[in-house]
Amino acid sequence: MELPPPLRQGVERLLDKVPLPALKQAARTLSERYRAELRDGRLHMADDMAVKAYLAARLPATYAAVRASLDALADARPGFTPKSLLDVGAGPGTVLWATTDLWPDLEAAVLLEASAAVRKVGQSLAEGTIAARTEWLAGDATIDLAELRPAELVTAAYVLDEITPASLPKLIGRLWQLTGDTLLIVEPGTPAGWQRILAARGQLIEAGAHVIAPCPHDAPCPLAQPDWCHFSRRVARSRLHRLTKDADVPWEDEKFIYVAASRHPAPSRPARVIAPPKSGSGKVTLKLCEPDGGAGEKLFTKRDGDLFKVARRLDWGGTLG
Ligand SMILES: C[S@@+](CC[C@H](N)C(=O)[O-])C[C@H]1O[C@@H](n2cnc3c(N)ncnc32)[C@H](O)[C@@H]1O
Repeated sequence: MELPPPLRQGVERLLDKVPLPALKQAARTLSERYRAELRDGRLHMADDMAVKAYLAARLPATYAAVRASLDALADARPGFTPKSLLDVGAGPGTVLWATTDLWPDLEAAVLLEASAAVRKVGQSLAEGTIAARTEWLAGDATIDLAELRPAELVTAAYVLDEITPASLPKLIGRLWQLTGDTLLIVEPGTPAGWQRILAARGQLIEAGAHVIAPCPHDAPCPLAQPDWCHFSRRVARSRLHRLTKDADVPWEDEKFIYVAASRHPAPSRPARVIAPPKSGSGKVTLKLCEPDGGAGEKLFTKRDGDLFKVARRLDWGGTLG
């Protein structure tokens, strides 16, 4: 997956003439902070160079994860075409770009972002290109959501891991109150990210939400540690992306996990593939999360006829039906 051309060009313009050694150093620092899930009272992207490092090294991957999660949400609720978006921890506008790519008729978006440096970049990337009426708000998502108005689609992508765990239940509760139709939360596809999504999922079900993706049920998650639920998206790396990370391969696999919770049930809840398929000649084994709340591997062979034809075309994250 690649960034939409106007976003890619905007990013290239912002990164033009940035000295590579400084960009690499900032990307290293950012990556260390993310990997350690450091919560030291400072924002990871507090200055211009950290924002530029994010654009070069992280934005393509978070965009791909968000876009894939939105695709799953749209597949689960085919009639859903949100006109309004509220995105918290908006960063450079990743969700805004992914949402307008999928639903070009989006009319209005409110983006809450704590870092002034990121807000400035996000605003300049979207200006003149994104058609939706867009309002960028300065604020802390754990404090400043009181005055906001609900939106049909509410999102928080790669944000929960930056917030003190004790503040999360209140934040999730408020995000659900602000959700007119569907709330999407995306996190890194790590065991810790999965735990945060599990906690949010449990809280949302308790509050009356219907989980529409990825789980085909509202029962407790059938996976147990050391296993964890996550998905993966292949992301093309630009030349600068490769240089910034000292990487040889022109792509990377972004692991992510998400939950989409809606005020409306999904019309159908097909089993979902929750691991890379294992194929052999005339057969494929899929690890499936099932509508009855169970999960496990299932073998499909030519003897399954049309079902085999569907199963062998499925990828990790896809649904059987
Ligand atoms: C990893 S970035 C993700 C940005 C974007 N959502 C994406 O998926 O690319 C997390 C963003 O959340 C912002 N953030 C962190 N804590 C926040 C808070 N309490 N309130 C508002 N924004 C916050 C950070 O400044 C940062 O821009």
